[in-house]
Amino acid sequence: MNRLSLLASLSKGSEILCDVGCDHAYVLVDAIKYHGVKRGIAADIGEGPLKIAKETIFNNNLSDKIDIVLSDGFKNINLPFDTAIIAGMGGTLISNILIDGLSKIKDKKLILEPNNDAYRVRKALLDNGFIIIDEFAINDMDKYYEIIVAIKGNASYNEFELKYGPILLNKREKAFIDHYKRLYNHINSIIDSINNLDVKKGKMELLDEYSKIINE
Ligand SMILES: C[S@@+](CC[C@H](N)C(=O)[O-])C[C@H]1O[C@@H](n2cnc3c(N)ncnc32)[C@H](O)[C@@H]1O
Repeated sequence: MNRLSLLASLSKGSEILCDVGCDHAYVLVDAIKYHGVKRGIAADIGEGPLKIAKETIFNNNLSDKIDIVLSDGFKNINLPFDTAIIAGMGGTLISNILIDGLSKIKDKKLILEPNNDAYRVRKALLDNGFIIIDEFAINDMDKYYEIIVAIKGNASYNEFELKYGPILLNKREKAFIDHYKRLYNHINSIIDSINNLDVKKGKMELLDEYSKIINE
């Protein structure tokens, strides 16, 4: 399964899906066509992506089921929804969108896929009354992705779990372990050539963390 199909499949059980940063709107179309979602909100900050989204939606005969909204994060989203997807953006941007939109997402299911810095997203969830109920690691076209699913709730995660994912660490999916094996091998192959002691220390700490994941 590729990244977009997996994201769409995680909307199963939702009635109305809001995709913030929908771009092409493939996830919304898939969610409605194949996963029982009834309606969608295609939101994006850019007019260009929304034009493409409109075409995708029209070509799939879903114009009566998907509302298109020009919006920075959740700012202009005033329609009801029960699940939100924010995918394919940096972790800092996703956590800012979550924090700014808190009043609109407090009781919603969240499906999040940060392209980097998943720590910040997990920290924003923890600090704002969400619990992580599932996580997925996948490799799509030779790129590694992590997906976080969260709902309202109280949790406590330590720094290691925030960095690497409380559920990913338990699940130990092949893509997850392979990713950290790759990073471990890369750092291990260059560590002797690093002269700066601070940089070397940081890399040694990473090697230690990665080996904990790989060898558990
Ligand atoms: C790389 S695309 C990801 C598209 C799709 N979600 C995916 O996972 O393939 C990022 C999209 O997020 C949109 N975007 C960036 N910042 C945004 C914001 N603050 N609010 C809404 N959309 C935003 C961009 O315009 C772009 O269409």
